[in-house]
Amino acid sequence: MATSKETVEVLLTESRVFMPPKELVECSNVKRWMEAHGIRDLDELLKRGEDLEWFWGEVAKEFVEFYSPYKKVLEWNPPHAKWFVGAQYNIVHDALDKHQNTWRRNKVAYIYEGEPGEVEKLTYRELYIEVCKLANALKSLGVKKGDRVGLYLPMIPQLPIAMLACAKIGAIHSVVFSGFSAMALAERMADAEAKVIITCDSFYRRGSKIPLKSQVDEALKMAPSIEKCIVYKRTGDQIPWDEKRDLWWHEIVKDQPKFCETERMDANDILYLLYTSGTTGRPKGVIHCHGGYAVGTTMTLSWVFDLKDEDIWWCTADIGWVTGHSYVVYAPLILGATSILYEGAPDWPEPDRWWDIIERHGVTVFYTSPTAIRMHMRFGERWAQKHDLSSLRLLGSVGEPINPEAWIWFYRHIGGERCPIMDTWWQTETGSFIISPLPITPLKPGSATKPLPGFSAEVFDEYGKPVVNAGGNLVLLTPWPSMLMGLYKAEERYRSTYWEKYPNVYLAGDIARKDSDGYFWIQGRADDIIKVAGHRIGNAEIESACVSHPAVAEAVAIGKPHPIKGESIVVFVVLKEGVKESEDLRKDIRLHVRKEIGPVAQPDEVWFVDALPKTRSGKIMRRVVRAKILGMPVGDISTLSNPEAIDELTKAR
Ligand code: WT7
Repeated sequence: MATSKETVEVLLTESRVFMPPKELVECSNVKRWMEAHGIRDLDELLKRGEDLEWFWGEVAKEFVEFYSPYKKVLEWNPPHAKWFVGAQYNIVHDALDKHQNTWRRNKVAYIYEGEPGEVEKLTYRELYIEVCKLANALKSLGVKKGDRVGLYLPMIPQLPIAMLACAKIGAIHSVVFSGFSAMALAERMADAEAKVIITCDSFYRRGSKIPLKSQVDEALKMAPSIEKCIVYKRTGDQIPWDEKRDLWWHEIVKDQPKFCETERMDANDILYLLYTSGTTGRPKGVIHCHGGYAVGTTMTLSWVFDLKDEDIWWCTADIGWVTGHSYVVYAPLILGATSILYEGAPDWPEPDRWWDIIERHGVTVFYTSPTAIRMHMRFGERWAQKHDLSSLRLLGSVGEPINPEAWIWFYRHIGGERCPIMDTWWQTETGSFIISPLPITPLKPGSATKPLPGFSAEVFDEYGKPVVNAGGNLVLLTPWPSMLMGLYKAEERYRSTYWEKYPNVYLAGDIARKDSDGYFWIQGRADDIIKVAGHRIGNAEIESACVSHPAVAEAVAIGKPHPIKGESIVVFVVLKEGVKESEDLRKDIRLHVRKEIGPVAQPDEVWFVDALPKTRSGKIMRRVVRAKILGMPVGDISTLSNPEAIDELTKAR
């Protein structure tokens, strides 16, 4: 109890306020927009943002070009919204096609750096040609509008190329993070009923080669919808080959034309599916569409990170997560920005790899996660001090709450006390930042500040009443352009997960507190999701991986605070009759989960117990386990059938 109470008190006393530098405010994109619309200050901007149709209509004018005008900005039939109704559109028009007629065709879109050190620059023109060729190749394989294509690729330019090629012809991409296992890949491919998958032989990570193609081979045994597998040659590794199914990327694009017509879609047609963990076992396929998503992600990137043509933008997130989809691929390309794309590990071959990249390429705006910041903090600031980081002008953080200590370290040692930190709160489902500072917002370390203009957030108590200075459920009161359009083939789950607790109000699943100044402090998940290094993993997914081990009868997984990763995974297992506990078995269970879900989900601790606390109806009380292990009050246990199991937990072996 002591620790959780302390945390709250520390947050309450975190009263430092950092005012934005005057020059930054004066030249900011958001200030320019306010001036053009006769808006005097942030409060007035927030007020004008409440008129959703007016506001998003004005924003859309600046950032996107529809093929044909929309009839209505918003059609809201809760819980489904349609944005820019009736417009014909394709996000690739804004991300690539439109730049081909301007000076930007010769601007660098991506500065790519492989882990071994090679650097490759791709201009908007070069990117466009690569995309057209692959799009034509996909067409030649029979991929059509609405078909799903699986992408299982590392952080190399071929991942954005493949995403854009799909979108160009109206196919729906479904990217699976390259750190997920064959099983996780198979499950997602099968749910999406993907027709084609694109991967590579292997890639570099911490100096070794990580195989992907062999994972795909294993996955495809369980994903019968896949007809073809396109393989990009990244390392030249020897790989198994199926003549009937596998195709080399370089061979199928070789003779393709350098032009491919962009499919005219409806603004509300599906752009992609991205699977994310939920509270029950199966991951959810979050749906994002072309039109609203383009508007929401692009405006937020332009305003929050203030990207200008001279900037070098680096969002370190892997494209396998939503952060990479929105802010490494779509929004930066629509803005015509230059982005860094780095294949490898942040601390390879030395802990200063990132600082070296910032110095060599002159990165000006840098966006990363609290986990990464805490890791670098542990290595020490001497690694950053070896480099000239004076090109930086703005910093950002995402994925989990940033503790004030890490905030201050980042501000001081990376930003040289010049660069404000944009702590952006959002989710796979929201598609874009929701609660975030603008460069004109006074900052409080540890707070993501306020909802951006055009968005509306609140903290509700159990009865749906807004509360101030107390923890409650974070909710979004109005629809927003980049919101999820639903869950793939799971309408009922969409309704019950997000829209049922409070009618017509979006339930984010986070606990937050709003202070007297209207600043939001995110405190973590309310539901059964563990955030490991900013990656979202469902407790239920880990548990089902555990019980698929032949020795395990029952399992419960919980998240435990971890100084670097935010949370680490701890599992308690009941072994099957007659199975002996051993150190080897413990190791084997950890590896089994790693194999089932992927390296991100490997538990740090595995404990053996004789029984898990259960309700009379047989449901394992995860909340009780978590409370007990974290030393918090276990609360009402009157429904437990075996209260004695609680004390067993702390005596576990
Ligand atoms: C969950 C969403 C959205 C990009 C990456 C994660 C947590 C995200 C913050 C932040 C505190 C944050 C929340 C949220 N989260 N950003 N700035 N401060 N918590 O996407 O995997 O869908 O996870 O990440 O708990 O619900 P995701």
